[in-house]
Amino acid sequence: MSKKLLLEKAHVEGIRYYDVYRREGGYRSVEKALKNMTPDEVVEEVKKSGLRGRGGAGFPTGMKWSFLAKPEGVPRYLVVNADESEPGTFKDRYLMEFIPHILIEGIITSCYALGANTAYIYIRGEYAWIPDILEQAIAEAKNNGWLGKNILGKGFDLEIYVQRGGGAYICGEETALLESLEGKRGNPRIKPPFPAVKGLYDCPTVVNNVETIAAVVPIINDGGDAYSKIGLGRSTGTKLMSACGNIRKPGVYEIDMTISVEEFIFSDEYCGGIANGKRLKACIPGGSSVPILPANLLLKTAKGEQRLMTYESLSDGGFATGSMLGSGGFIVLDEDQCIVKHTYTLARFYRHESCGQCSPCREGTGWMEKILLRLEKGQGKMSDIDLLWDIQRKIEGNTICPLGDAAAWPVAAAIRHFRDEFEWHVTHPEEATKRNFGLAHYADPLEVAVG
Ligand SMILES: Cc1cc2nc3c(=O)[nH]c(=O)nc-3n(C[C@H](O)[C@H](O)[C@H](O)COP(=O)(O)O)c2cc1C
Ligand code: SF4
Repeated sequence: MSKKLLLEKAHVEGIRYYDVYRREGGYRSVEKALKNMTPDEVVEEVKKSGLRGRGGAGFPTGMKWSFLAKPEGVPRYLVVNADESEPGTFKDRYLMEFIPHILIEGIITSCYALGANTAYIYIRGEYAWIPDILEQAIAEAKNNGWLGKNILGKGFDLEIYVQRGGGAYICGEETALLESLEGKRGNPRIKPPFPAVKGLYDCPTVVNNVETIAAVVPIINDGGDAYSKIGLGRSTGTKLMSACGNIRKPGVYEIDMTISVEEFIFSDEYCGGIANGKRLKACIPGGSSVPILPANLLLKTAKGEQRLMTYESLSDGGFATGSMLGSGGFIVLDEDQCIVKHTYTLARFYRHESCGQCSPCREGTGWMEKILLRLEKGQGKMSDIDLLWDIQRKIEGNTICPLGDAAAWPVAAAIRHFRDEFEWHVTHPEEATKRNFGLAHYADPLEVAVG
């Protein structure tokens, strides 16, 4: 049984509301930090914890915080990235919708550490009903003295604002998000300068994922050392996974990163095995942008070792035989799923979401979509497979932001591991068009398990 730090109280009735959250021990981290710790000590605990950003890249949070520039007389900001538009990822939604105070508490403690007096939560436009929940939680926190002026009499002021996004995936990229927050079109900025130096309104800014900021609460409550002892190696603490696709129990699960991929998929505590008695074909372990892995490489590494749910183990072997933990959007495909159709659907998504600033991404995503559709419809040629390979290689690493890579990697991995299926679409055009295998079903988190 994995230790629960974020979802421990998820099943307590009324935990969404301040009184219940507080009764269950909420806001202790703020009390501890403001009364007994200096801001630098809070940063130190986060460094000690080994916490890595939960938005996808896994960058160490304490290190990111220590990069924040501190020029005299210039405001600093914390921006919480709640855009969560990566297909397969819906863990932040659960936290915000059902335990919003853990995010508010994490923001207050984090802002105290960073010396920020203003925080923004930038939330995905399609999560239309969640801003009201967050705003209610913010109002409750303010009415109880956790926000506003001179919090706990310690001379620290903080306001939190919720900003709704317009429904663009690219606005999850941190610099596009900042542009959008400033009221402009969400185009990624060229880096450097990084947000820690020149972020929102050109001021030093930390951008962190919802889950990252929520994790600051148990880190301060129990200490960075205690947090670092959960998990394995550089994969410390717990991780929220949103699991969907052809599994018996789609849902949001909190795992400590010591369990194996096999246990995560097949045990009743988590995904409960493959639905309808089918066999496991493949899985995208970290959201739609990360490479797909066939069952054999998913459960065991190329060295034959059991694959674990850690950053290191999931990426073992590089992209030749590994993948990434990414944002924790775990998409499982059974034996009936068509990889060509699946890859086409992802390519269509990335073409649609490309902001169009760089030619390799703008043009390449469109070409990949067209070629994949041709193959899927049984109208492709063998040379199309090599053409696809060539296009994705020319996108990867040649763009302003990582959306280009995110579009290229799924195509590369699909060809690398399932080339025979692409070839079959060319050699069996009639049958290819008759196959009507749907995509893995992306679960609705309201109807799924939580644990
Ligand atoms: C196209 C694209 C979409 C992204 N979407 C999200 C998102 O929805 N949520 C998120 O936290 N990070 C997202 N990221 C990563 C952010 O740019 C950034 O690395 C992250 O918010 C940093 O927070 P962390 O250090 O806590 O992970 C995205 C990146 C790219 C390139
Ligand atoms: S990689 Fe794509 S999404 Fe990112 S800046 Fe370039 S065109 Fe825009």
